[in-house]
Amino acid sequence: MARSDWSKIPDFGHPLIDAQHRKIVASTKRILNLLRQPAGRAELVPSLIDYAALLAEHFSAEEALMEHICSEKHAKHTETHKRTHFEITNMINNLILEVKDKGVDPYIKSAFNETFKLFLKNVTAHDAILTAIIQLENML
Ligand SMILES: [Fe+2]
Repeated sequence: MARSDWSKIPDFGHPLIDAQHRKIVASTKRILNLLRQPAGRAELVPSLIDYAALLAEHFSAEEALMEHICSEKHAKHTETHKRTHFEITNMINNLILEVKDKGVDPYIKSAFNETFKLFLKNVTAHDAILTAIIQLENML
């Protein structure tokens, strides 16, 4: 997904997942704006903490759905999802520590972009499959 396509994460048809994706995209845009404005930097750490909470809530909701579907059949998919969840959480927590410690520098901007890229990769690789399974099994 190209950078210009961020706000175009498709709706997959699950109301909770789609709503959470929209919130995460809105939060991402807010953080990118804060990174561009020196005056916005005081809000950066609380915004990153909110962002981490949104992602944790979202991944937990998806993992709960995965486990509800059929843990045996989709175990590998669930496992990969949990690994990505863990990786993104670590990246954001490190980012928060870096901002607290050193403020904003070019590394912070690129590290945040990497975090969001990983989220988009997760959407592409997992959410389409997850929502298709949910629809197939009539679980909406
Ligand atoms: Fe998702």
